[in-house]
Amino acid sequence: MNSCSVMDNLATQATAIRAREIAAVANAVLAGLSDKKKSLPAWLFYDAAGSRLFEAITRLPEYYLTALEHSIFSQYAQEMISAAAGLDNNQLSVLELGAGSASKTLVLLRALISRQGHAIYLPIDVSEAALQSAKKNVHAALPAVDVQPICSEITQEKSLELPQTGRRLALYIGSSIGNFDPEDAVELLQWLNSQLQPGDALLLGTDMVKDAAPLLAAYNDLAGVTAAFNKNILARLNRELGADFALDAFEHRAVWNVAKCRMEMHLESQRQQTVRVEALDRDFEFRRGESIHTENSYKFSSEDVANMLLKSGFVLEQSWYDPDDWFGVHLARVVDSVTMPDADANEEAA
Ligand code: AVI
Repeated sequence: MNSCSVMDNLATQATAIRAREIAAVANAVLAGLSDKKKSLPAWLFYDAAGSRLFEAITRLPEYYLTALEHSIFSQYAQEMISAAAGLDNNQLSVLELGAGSASKTLVLLRALISRQGHAIYLPIDVSEAALQSAKKNVHAALPAVDVQPICSEITQEKSLELPQTGRRLALYIGSSIGNFDPEDAVELLQWLNSQLQPGDALLLGTDMVKDAAPLLAAYNDLAGVTAAFNKNILARLNRELGADFALDAFEHRAVWNVAKCRMEMHLESQRQQTVRVEALDRDFEFRRGESIHTENSYKFSSEDVANMLLKSGFVLEQSWYDPDDWFGVHLARVVDSVTMPDADANEEAA
C-alpha cells in the first residue's frame, strides 16, 4: 500500500470512530432527556474542554480530594509498594484505569523503581492526547519505566483484554469509583478482577463520608469552575449535536444527598423553555425549576469500601488515610474463589 492510501485509510478509520462517538452521545442524550426525571451520564463531561476544566478543579482550594490523595501517596508510597509486592517480594507491573496524564502516579512509580529498578506501566484512558502526555511525563521523570499506553473507554464497554505482564498492581485512584452507582461500581471492579490473577493487587482511592460543609464547598467552588464544568456538558451538546441550550438559562446546583451518601450535580432550568437537538430532530421541554441530573459522587465509609471490594472478588488488606480520615487509599488482593469470604454474609453481619 502506498503512503497516500495508508493516510486515506487512517482518515476513514478516524471518521468512523468519531461517528461512533457522536452516535453514543446522541443515544445517551435521547435516553436521558426523554426520561421523566431528566439526566445525562457523567462520562459526557470529559471532552477536551471538560477534561481541562476537571484538571482546573483538582487545583481548587475547596477541592480537597486531589491534594489529600497526593499527600497520602507521598507519605506512604514505599509502604504501599512493599505491601502490594507481598512477602515473596514480587516484581510488579502497574496498570492504571483512567490514567489521564499520569501526574498523580509518578510518586508511586518512583517508589516502585527505587525498589525494583525498572517496571512496565500500562496507563488506560479514553483520551489518546492524555496518554501521549502520560508517556512523555513518565519518560522524562523516570526513564526506567516502560510505558505501554492503552486507549480505551473501559467504563462503557468492558470488552478490552488486558495484556499479561506478570504480577500486577492495578490503580484506580481519584475516587473515580464514586461516580458509579453501587451496582455499576461492583460490575466495573468485577471486570477488573476478571483481568487479574490471584495474588495481583488493587490500589483504590475513595473520598470518605464527612460533614456536609466541606463537601458542599468542594462542589460549589467560589471561582465557579465546577459550575463551568457542569455546564460544559450542555456546550458539548450544542457543539456536537447541534443543540441550542442557552447556557445562562441553566444554573449549576450541587447538593448533598444524605440518604444516599452522595454529592449530586444538577443543571436547573431557570425558566420554562424548549431546547432543540438537531441531530436527534427532537425538541425537549423544560419546566422552570426542572433539573437535569448530571453526576453522582458517592462518599464511602471503610465498611462500604470493604464490602464493595468483597462483592467484586477482592479482599481488603490495608488502608491509608489523611490525618482527618477525609480520603482513603485501599490495598486489596485478588484471591482465588475457593478462599474468597462470603460478601453477603459479611454485609449481614455488619
Ligand atoms: C472525577 N470525579 C472523581 C470527580 C468527583 O469529585 O466526583 C468529578 C467532579 N465532579 C465535580 N467536581 C469534580
